[in-house]
Amino acid sequence: MSARLPVSGSFPTVRPRRLRQSPAVRDLARETDVLPRHLVLPAFVREGLSAPAPIGSMPGVVQHSVDSLRRAAVEAAEAGISGIMLFGVPAVRDAVGSGADDPEGILNVATAAVAAEVGDALVVQTDLCLDEFTDHGHCGVLDANGAVDNDATLERYVSMGLAQARAGSGLLGLSGMMDGQVGAVREALDAEGFTDTLILGYAAKYASAFYGPFREAVDSQLHGDRRTYQLDPGNRREGVREALIDEAEGADVVMVKPAMAFLDVLREVRDAVTVPVWAYQVSGEYAMIEAAAANGWIDRRAAVLESLLSIRRAGADVVLTYWATEAAGWIRAQ
Ligand code: PBG
Repeated sequence: MSARLPVSGSFPTVRPRRLRQSPAVRDLARETDVLPRHLVLPAFVREGLSAPAPIGSMPGVVQHSVDSLRRAAVEAAEAGISGIMLFGVPAVRDAVGSGADDPEGILNVATAAVAAEVGDALVVQTDLCLDEFTDHGHCGVLDANGAVDNDATLERYVSMGLAQARAGSGLLGLSGMMDGQVGAVREALDAEGFTDTLILGYAAKYASAFYGPFREAVDSQLHGDRRTYQLDPGNRREGVREALIDEAEGADVVMVKPAMAFLDVLREVRDAVTVPVWAYQVSGEYAMIEAAAANGWIDRRAAVLESLLSIRRAGADVVLTYWATEAAGWIRAQ
């Protein structure tokens, strides 16, 4: 016997294609979009540069001088994106990352310069982690056995967070994956009167191969890996657990990172917490699309916009992406 088809009078009776028939109908039917305000630009500033220096593994991205960073921040604001996340590359490193909480350290100096330049047009944000500032490249300080010492690191994060808030950062991006980091930094900020300084907890930050190009961008000194503090890529529930802990400790925003290889985690975190959820489209995601586009294997602009849309659809309220300013320009021109 042949299967009965859902025929009643005319066939077929159910026509999903009706909602795809023209650009205007598709506009009415689209569930997700990407607007400039959904984007934040990560940017690198390197001590001692007088002109921007290209990053080989991230074509189109540079290490900025303080002056070129200021200009990039103005362009980002003009493009209508919401924020800029600053990463510092110091000239000198040591075991405890002294440059991180030095008011004259590159990241703090650059933060003050950018904040003075753009005012409230962008949320000026700072990476709060020691890895760029330590001579061993780990995100925290080491104990006598060479292991990353969680609680000693928290003291360094508190000091770094206060230095960043004093420099004018509006949002501290706690990316080091130490237990208790959100609670410790929140308490210290509040005690010093920085009750309006936002905290982004990198809640579900995975030990990922997709950070490869970033390590060149910040001249990373790391040998080995970060598997004792970043999450195992096999674990989804643990990502949700970390997000719930960060929310309970007072994080204003939580993060899932990387984005595209962890969209399932992103969706689960979005469903589990009530604070905004951001996702970080990391250096390796950027480099893959750029490399394929440079070879003529992919339509660069379409692939970038689709990647951002997919991250938003999975549940990101905001996406950190190296394409933020450029993509905002495309979106506004559409
Ligand atoms: C560490 C940090 C990393 C990234 C952002 N913050 C690298 C790491 O954990 O090794 C990666 C960002 C990217 O790959 O674009 N503070």
